[in-house]
Amino acid sequence: MIKVKNLGKIYKAGAHPVVALADVDLTVKPGEFVSVMGPSGSGKSTLMNLLGCLDILTSGSYLLDGMEVSGMSETELAQVRKLKIGFVFQAFNLLPRMSAIRNVELPMIYAGVAPRERARRAAEALEKVGLAQRMSHRPGELSGGQIQRVSIARALVNNPAVILADEPTGNLDTRSGEEIMAIFQELNRGGATIVLVTHEREIALHTSRIVHFRDGRLVEDEPVAAPLDAREHISAAVPVGQAGSNIESGGEFGR
Ligand SMILES: Nc1ncnc2c1ncn2[C@@H]1O[C@H](COP(=O)(O)OP(=O)(O)OP(=O)(O)O)[C@@H](O)[C@H]1O
Ligand SMILES: [Mg+2]
Repeated sequence: MIKVKNLGKIYKAGAHPVVALADVDLTVKPGEFVSVMGPSGSGKSTLMNLLGCLDILTSGSYLLDGMEVSGMSETELAQVRKLKIGFVFQAFNLLPRMSAIRNVELPMIYAGVAPRERARRAAEALEKVGLAQRMSHRPGELSGGQIQRVSIARALVNNPAVILADEPTGNLDTRSGEEIMAIFQELNRGGATIVLVTHEREIALHTSRIVHFRDGRLVEDEPVAAPLDAREHISAAVPVGQAGSNIESGGEFGR
């Protein structure tokens, strides 16, 4: 799904160019769930921006779902991004004046999906993340975890080949973080390819592989033999009957 060879990124900021990534080789197979770890400044977000076609690589090659991305213009990159990538950011970048469902509809507006189809798919995506009862709420009327789930729903609606998440649990308490991981794990069981950046090893252990970065280089590729199941943590942490207080009832995430 993702095949990166000798990837390099140099930022030219003033007189001092910054080598943010060097010689990165990384292959992610369809249906894999990979986490990216490393100290601050090690190049994780740079990698995500390149994988997400938000920025242009300085060197190397990048094959995304069979398409060579290196050498593409900004316009071509924007097109690929729209079709292939679903993004979830740490700072939930939802539009504050729009309801959850309108926020989720946005990428489909850009993709030219007809209104009725848009509304149907947005509702379906919000149901998938357990927010059927919160569709008309604005971001200010939702909890941090719920807002992040709206972001995930928005990342899903165009059926991306790859979901990229840069510290999606970074601003959340442990419990909400587990709920987010439960959703990612469920999506992954359904076949989604996911790459997720995190500072927390506990979060990374919910994925099946951890790639470690240091000083812009991939220094370790660590398989996770038995990934943690977020559903177990959620149900274990909360007395029966209260589990639905934070998540809407019904569906996979209703307990
Ligand atoms: N737009 C930019 N212009 C110049 N330098 C940049 C730019 N973006 C990032 N850098 C530099 O590139 C390096 C890698 O940054 P990056 O944001 O990828 O790190 P990170 O691993 O995501 O860190 P964090 O964990 O703090 O989010 C850093 O040294 C940073 O200062
Ligand atoms: Mg970062």
